[in-house]
Amino acid sequence: MRHVFVAGSINMDVVATAERHPKVGETVAGEAVLYFPGGKGANQAVASAKLGIPTTLIGRLGMDAFGKELRAFLAAQGVDLTSVKTTNGTHSGTAIITIANADNTIVVVPGANGLVDARDVKAPSLMKGDVAVSQFEIPLPAITAFFRRARAVGATTILNPAPAKQADKALLELVDILVLNETELGYLTGTELRDSDDPSRFAQAARTLGQGKIVCVTLGKRGVLALVENQPLLVPGREVKAIDTTGAGDCFVGALASQLAIGKPLGDALAYANAAASICVQRMGAAPSMPTADEVAAVLSTRRPGQGRDP
Ligand code: RIB
Repeated sequence: MRHVFVAGSINMDVVATAERHPKVGETVAGEAVLYFPGGKGANQAVASAKLGIPTTLIGRLGMDAFGKELRAFLAAQGVDLTSVKTTNGTHSGTAIITIANADNTIVVVPGANGLVDARDVKAPSLMKGDVAVSQFEIPLPAITAFFRRARAVGATTILNPAPAKQADKALLELVDILVLNETELGYLTGTELRDSDDPSRFAQAARTLGQGKIVCVTLGKRGVLALVENQPLLVPGREVKAIDTTGAGDCFVGALASQLAIGKPLGDALAYANAAASICVQRMGAAPSMPTADEVAAVLSTRRPGQGRDP
């Protein structure tokens, strides 16, 4: 079995639930304040580790109470933390999240995540066949250095360019598999896209990013559209009643990485990741909502209306 390495953010998610989101300039009464471990990097690493794959997280925490709590939580999920540094003089990453009607708004304050650098990603020993994963909540030069190392040893690189920002060509050229939602796709391609658009519009936009890489566009409950050598592959999603979608995209990425690390073909790995994400959205919180392999297997063994079982 190969190893998954995730270079990315670790946050404490401070969540306020409310009946509806406030408009700009408006105050609404909330219902509860909840604290959940999160951060795109940590969420993806937890997803992979809970599915039984050896997983190393590369990142930084502040020297504060949140940092201690996050480290203890991640260790308990089986994530290897030997490459997570505790950094003086800054706070742990913090996300302020509002949830209403299962939808969220998020403001992320990077703190220690903003100090991850190219030296941090040099320590862990990647090998051929491993999977290297990153997102855009740590500085882009660190991601470039990480993927350069991964490429040099023959590991597969997965980039989840979230939250969306412009990346230079040098970084994008180091990516084997790009996983993004319609907002990120629209941003990176300068196209106006809506989640209700026909998949052919996403395929058209994704083609402009293709150039030798696989592009996977996550479409929520509609599933995922993958472009492999420019050929579209639509893997349907699962209709479930979502209560909190925070971290669902991260669950998808971590689960996909875990399955590719054990050599599953892309189509099967995508169906597996869809099933994992469908479990995640039915629970509150980001990292604590990641499913186990038994839970995903149970979902995959259930027949969907009009369809057979998933692989
Ligand atoms: O993708 C969800 C994550 O985004 C949250 O856990 C929050 O920390 C932000 O990083």
